Amino acid sequence: MSLLIKNIGTIVGIQPEGIERLCGEQMGRLETLDAAWLLAEEGRIASFGRMADGCPAAGQEVDARGGMLFPSFCDSHTHLVYAGSREQEFLDKINGLSYEEIARRGGGILNSADRLHDTSEEELYRQAMERIREIIRMGTGAVEIKSGYGLTTEDELKMLRVIRRIRQTAPLEVRATFLGAHAVGRAYVGRQSEYVDMLCREMLPAVAREGLAEYIDVFCDEGFFTVEETARILEAGARYGLVPKIHANELAVSGGVQVGVAHGALSVDHLERMGEAEIEALRGSRTMPTMLPGAAFFLGMSYPPAREMLRAGLGVALASDYNPGSTPSGNMKMVLSLATIRMKMTPAEAINAATLNGAYAMGLSREVGSITVGKLANFFLTPAMPSVAFFPYAYTTPLVSRVFLRGEEFTA
Ligand code: NIG
Ligand code: FE
Repeated sequence: MSLLIKNIGTIVGIQPEGIERLCGEQMGRLETLDAAWLLAEEGRIASFGRMADGCPAAGQEVDARGGMLFPSFCDSHTHLVYAGSREQEFLDKINGLSYEEIARRGGGILNSADRLHDTSEEELYRQAMERIREIIRMGTGAVEIKSGYGLTTEDELKMLRVIRRIRQTAPLEVRATFLGAHAVGRAYVGRQSEYVDMLCREMLPAVAREGLAEYIDVFCDEGFFTVEETARILEAGARYGLVPKIHANELAVSGGVQVGVAHGALSVDHLERMGEAEIEALRGSRTMPTMLPGAAFFLGMSYPPAREMLRAGLGVALASDYNPGSTPSGNMKMVLSLATIRMKMTPAEAINAATLNGAYAMGLSREVGSITVGKLANFFLTPAMPSVAFFPYAYTTPLVSRVFLRGEEFTA
């Protein structure tokens, strides 16, 4: 089956083959082509060119009516499998409690773990698929999803099986991350090192036996897991071939960035608290620093120092962190607006961070993340816009008008 998109005002995010990530100054360049067409065949981008040079015929034709075509967002950090919601804690925060205080009182992640325990796998899948359809409609074409609201072997497996089922049934690309070290499970409160032992001895082999995850995450931060515990967990994960993608430096300068880089992490995520040493540790590494401005916005924290990282020549990624506690939103367009407005990234830098570099941060940049011949035909159309900058500028206007995944329109 072939699909032709014609009368495209501008194709955004074109890359030659073989570019896996963009760093520093490269991030400020966004390749575009005006007055264009794009052809997809067998679910992949087959060719694109200028309308003036004539366009090929195809089984299905879509008129973009002068709108722009963007590569789908690649959201490399979410927790979108969860049960229910936590707006009670939202009210607690309005009334003055901090995220850490709520967690100390047994709310937060443990609250979600209790709910997840009481929810069937079927119901969990149903709730998660609603969120999946929501993010697809908002332009996401690849997503990483973490466990971490189970915190017992049985419930972590339940979450990861739901992620596997999403992967088998949803039209977007999915990658799974085991986050048993999101918090200490209720039965182990006060016995953190025993929880870490159990995670390494029991949870990890069970996850690996069923092949349920490709990545491993640890919440390495003040009040959660220490650098030493993180190192132990990452080493244990490496024995099963799990690559680290970790939560670091959200609540404190935790040492999380350094321990992640030292263990070959594909990404270190959050980074609200960063110093010179953290930036230095990332320089020359394979690790993609990933910022989640939705969390800083929702929790009223300071934003990660995007400009400093870019000035140091680093590549950066942007992701949503979609979760019930710190960011109940998977809206990547809003993430672009936060990145431009609050972190002073240019629209080009932010779009590259949310597409190609996001794809890199989940090991998918050969398949998605840019308009490149041979990559999956995952893209969305917008109405006609005066410029690319209009997209993050019009920060609540719904500008993702039609979505295509593997060359097929998503209409659900
Ligand atoms: O990325 N920081 C740790 N984990 C999530 C929040 C989890 C929750 O509150 O449920 C985050 O912000
Ligand atoms: Fe997170």
